[in-house]
Amino acid sequence: MDEVIRRLRSGNWVSGEAIARELNVSRSAIWKHVLNLKEAGFEIQSSSRGYKLSSIPDNFYPPTIKFFLETRFLGQRIDYHFRLPSSQDRAKILAEKGAKEGLLVICEEQSGGRGRRGRRWVSTSYKSLTFSLLFRPSLSPWQMMQFPLMASLALSDVLSSHYRLCAHLKWPNDVLIGRRKVAGILAEMSGDAESINYIVLGVGININMEEEDFPDELKTIATSLLMEIGKKINRVRFLGRFLKRLEEYYLLYVEEGFSPIREKILAISSTVGSEVVAYQGEGRLEGKAVDIDSQGNLVVIDSSGSKHVLCCGDVTIRDKGK
Ligand code: BTN
Repeated sequence: MDEVIRRLRSGNWVSGEAIARELNVSRSAIWKHVLNLKEAGFEIQSSSRGYKLSSIPDNFYPPTIKFFLETRFLGQRIDYHFRLPSSQDRAKILAEKGAKEGLLVICEEQSGGRGRRGRRWVSTSYKSLTFSLLFRPSLSPWQMMQFPLMASLALSDVLSSHYRLCAHLKWPNDVLIGRRKVAGILAEMSGDAESINYIVLGVGININMEEEDFPDELKTIATSLLMEIGKKINRVRFLGRFLKRLEEYYLLYVEEGFSPIREKILAISSTVGSEVVAYQGEGRLEGKAVDIDSQGNLVVIDSSGSKHVLCCGDVTIRDKGK
């Protein structure tokens, strides 16, 4: 399947006979893969020259996702549902049953999408991208907050490198374009005081949503790729790019720790250097955000010069920031 996909991606005519010969499989095995892709919504021409791809769908069927996947393990196992209450909950159930690291749970519709701090996450069928990923890193629970920071870095990298958008991060893990939120990340963990058993990383991205798709309270603070770029984006191509970048950062993180990730985050953080209001539990703090430290905490200096180190919470930026 991977080989058939790799060749079709080129957009050229691909000879089924030649692939079958090279891979030492029957021509009907190749035809089955082509049929699989057609059933997933790919338009593939057939002629005496072989097969040629003429259009790519934008759905979350596993063959479509595999078409765009260039990872070693992230997303290689896919649990797709048209509708779920929340991909987070489904991923947790599978994690408890022993699912392997890299599992992707993805759906077209979420009836009970969750955001951070108990908020709901609004998504629109056929326009949003909502999924959860399972990780089983050897980390201590105190490192947990570095995880969504790493994921938001990967996301903003994809936005800038592939879509030429000037994305930046609002601590702890909002991805913004200008001052509007384009994506949210929710990391939930299971473990004990010493070690993490697994992390479910939930990602919601506003890909092709239009202003009218957002509820009134979000209309002035949310945006989408379509609203920023002015054209529709294939959600699965975006997913493939994100998973590739996230896997690269994850492997870097596992190998070298948080330090190289932190450097990159500081370069695109809209929080550090800004006057902020931080909310943690019931508490409210005003001051200047001066750093994201080696653990991933936000360091804020208040008007009396006292230093506060925040490990979680929400932040509002008061000035224009970087
Ligand atoms: C936030 O910004 O508050 C985080 C939002 C995370 C939303 C995603 S969508 C996929 C996954 N499933 C959920 O129920 N939530 C996360």
